[in-house]
Order: sequence, then C-alpha cells, then structure tokens
Amino acid sequence: MKKGDIISRYSKVFPKAARVTYAPIVGVKAKNARVWDIEGKEYIDFLSDAAVQNVGHNNERVVRSIKDQVDKLIHFTFIYGFPVEPLLLAKKLLEISPIKDSKVVLGLSGSDANEGAIKFARAYTKRRTILSYLGSYYGATYGAMSITGLDFELRALVGELSDVHYIPYPDCYRCPFGQEKVKCHFECISYLEYKFEREVYAEGIAALFAEPIQGDAGMVVPPDNYFKELKKILDEHGILLVVDEVQSGLGRTGKWFAIEHFGVVPDIMTLAKPLGGGLPISAIIGRAEILESLPALGHTFTLSGNPVASRAALAVIEEIEEKNLLKRAEKLGEYTMRRLKKMQKEHELIGDVRGKGVMIGVDLVKDRETKERAFDEAKKVVWRAYELGLILAFLHGNVLRIQPPLTIEEELLDGGLDILERAIADVEEGKVSDKALRMVQGW
Ligand SMILES: Cc1ncc(COP(=O)(O)O)c(C=O)c1O
Repeated sequence: MKKGDIISRYSKVFPKAARVTYAPIVGVKAKNARVWDIEGKEYIDFLSDAAVQNVGHNNERVVRSIKDQVDKLIHFTFIYGFPVEPLLLAKKLLEISPIKDSKVVLGLSGSDANEGAIKFARAYTKRRTILSYLGSYYGATYGAMSITGLDFELRALVGELSDVHYIPYPDCYRCPFGQEKVKCHFECISYLEYKFEREVYAEGIAALFAEPIQGDAGMVVPPDNYFKELKKILDEHGILLVVDEVQSGLGRTGKWFAIEHFGVVPDIMTLAKPLGGGLPISAIIGRAEILESLPALGHTFTLSGNPVASRAALAVIEEIEEKNLLKRAEKLGEYTMRRLKKMQKEHELIGDVRGKGVMIGVDLVKDRETKERAFDEAKKVVWRAYELGLILAFLHGNVLRIQPPLTIEEELLDGGLDILERAIADVEEGKVSDKALRMVQGW
C-alpha cells in the first residue's frame, strides 16, 4: 500500500474519537530516537510515542526479553494461576517505589490504572468524593475521564461519575490567581481551605488525584514546596494523595518518579505508558492496606499480568538501572533547557520554557506580555519540523512537547534542537504556509 492510500483509508475505518494527528508519518521502522517512514524518510523523534519510549524504540534488551518470552509462554492467566513474570515485575516495582509496605496491581493502560485508583481510594476511605485538577488528564475510560479536568464537552455528551470536584493547578507562568512567582502567597494552597469551607466537605473526600507535572495541560511544573504544603492539608483531613506517574514516571524527569522532586510520598501511584517499552501494561502501586480494600476480582482484567508485557517491563526497568538513565535524563534535560532558554532569548514566539529532565514544554505565545497562546504558530512549527525531519507535537494547543527517549544520542538531540530552532525561525519569518493549519490537528 502507498503512503497516500494508507493515510486516506485511516479515516474510513477509524472514527475520530480514537485519534488526534499531528503529521502524516507512516512509521515502519524505529531504533532508539530514529523513526523511518514507509517512503524511507528518517525522522528524529522528540515525542517518544507520547512518552512511551523512555529506553528508546526497539531497545535491544526489551526486544530480546519479548522474543525469549514469546517462545516460552505468551499468556497464562494471572487471575487464576501463578505465572512467574508478573511476580518478578511486581518485586522490581516495589524496589524502586518510594511508597513503603506497598502492593502492586497490574493492568493494561494508564486509564485503567487511574480507574482502579479511584475504586481503591473510595473503598479504603469509605468516602466518595474525588478531588482533581483543572487541566488534568487521567485517561479515556469512564472513571478516568470523569476525573479529567480537560474536555468537558465529551462528558456533557456521555455523562460522568458523580462526586468529582476540581481545583486549579499551580501554574506559575499563567497563575490562575493572577499572581506572580516569588511574590505570591501560595494562593493555590489557601484556595483549598476556601474550597473546603464553601463547596466540598473535606471529610467526605477520598483522594486528590495529581500529576506531579501536568503533562497534557502543557508541561506545567508546580513550585518546589507545593506538594509539601498540600500534603499537610490532605493529611489533616484524611485525604489520600494519588499521584499519576503515567507520563512523568520511569526516569523521564531524572528520577524514577517525578513526585520525588517534591519531597512527598503519595499513598497510591499509577504507571503505564513507558512501562512496557511499547507493550500495553500498567501498574497501580499503593500502600498494602489500601490495595487490600476491594474484594476478590475488584480490579483485574483477563490479560492483566501478561508474561510478555511483564518481561518487557522488567527489561525497561533493568535498562534504566544498568545504563544509569536517571542521571542521563537529568543531564540531557539540563542541556536541552539551556539550549531552549537561549532560543527563547532570540525568538519572541517562545514565551516560556519549563520542565524537569526530558519532560519539557516550550510555550509559544503571540505576545510575551499578554501570554496569549499561539495556536496557529504551534501548528506551523510542528508542520515545519515534520518537513525538516523532526517528530514533534504540542499540548494545550500551543506548548511544544519535548520528550525524546532518555537514550537519545547527544548529536541527534542537538540535530533535533537545530531543526526545532529553524522551524520556529521559519514560522516567525512567515515562511510556513497556512496549509499547516489544515494538516495538523493536535490538541
Ligand atoms: C498523565 C496521564 N495519565 C493517564 C493517561 C492515560 O493513559 P492511557 O492512554 O495509557 O490510558 C495519560 C495519557 O496520555 C496521561 O498522560
């Protein structure tokens, strides 16, 4: 099949609900941070399949583990039987987790992990209310969708779980309380007490769900002390802290889990995306007493604990450990931030650069004073980058998503940043046509 045929057939068989596209790339081969299109064109990958390929595309250790396991045993039900591979994975997850005396529940996607976390939090606390953040993304299944603070249109169409309330996320670039960083009085924290007095009964709240860095909202990084101050209030009211590490976990920010940057230990963590190196697997890690609060079969799936996905996940974790990828993510992140900050000085379009490790957002604005989001320009930058051989996406319509594999070669990272800078310059100079606005969908 020709590239054009494949692309046009897609919309004939897949409904739009399943996809959101940025560039017409038909990927047929990939290695570490390189991806090849069906027509042979090579791309540098700054997207890592939406933060999936932390250890690089087709990582050798992952490929070897998968092949070895497929030859021996593809599946043996974890629900009824006792396959060894999920046990080894759980042991490893508990070793790297900051939550003490914990257990593990395995699933298939970030959505189902968050779904389970809602159930465990409600069952354990015997409370119903879930507190979440505006701008958050927790997934597409009913529960995860219902606590997501984006896309309220979808929920208006299909209905949602009840007892969910929202608070603003601490965003120091576009502060929801109109404050400025450093000069503020942590209004995002005091708002919580206000919320409890006026709207939500604190002692009825089971859990607060938080991304340690808000990914799909546009890589929003909270101030250093935010989670410490927040946790004090949650503890006062017996509210659990559930941290979604689906996008930020497994080394992406230079630590195993992004929440470790902020000096608090959550009660529950959810993981998915990079865990299986590209195979579908998720994990809920939580205090044992919390994860023992549901009855038998309270949260499991037929393919939970799949041996092949478990072996792949073990290989991902071993690769991060043995290649010291936490340190590498930190180093690459610092370098990338320096280059992006330098670009910011030279390009008015860049309003803000933020992130930790290689989880970085480049916030494009029409005007640095008003911080008006540069939606069209973001589409044009992504399109131009695609033309020049860089896979790039944006979040919240205008924040470029810089999430290469933690294993990207330095020269390739530099090459990708060169393309990014050229794409930004071309957009600023009006060299990218409006065709990009039709071609790039994004969200
Ligand atoms: C922070 C976060 N949580 C949960 C999810 C949902 O994960 P999945 O798409 O694997 O269901 C995502 C996916 O983008 C995510 O970024």
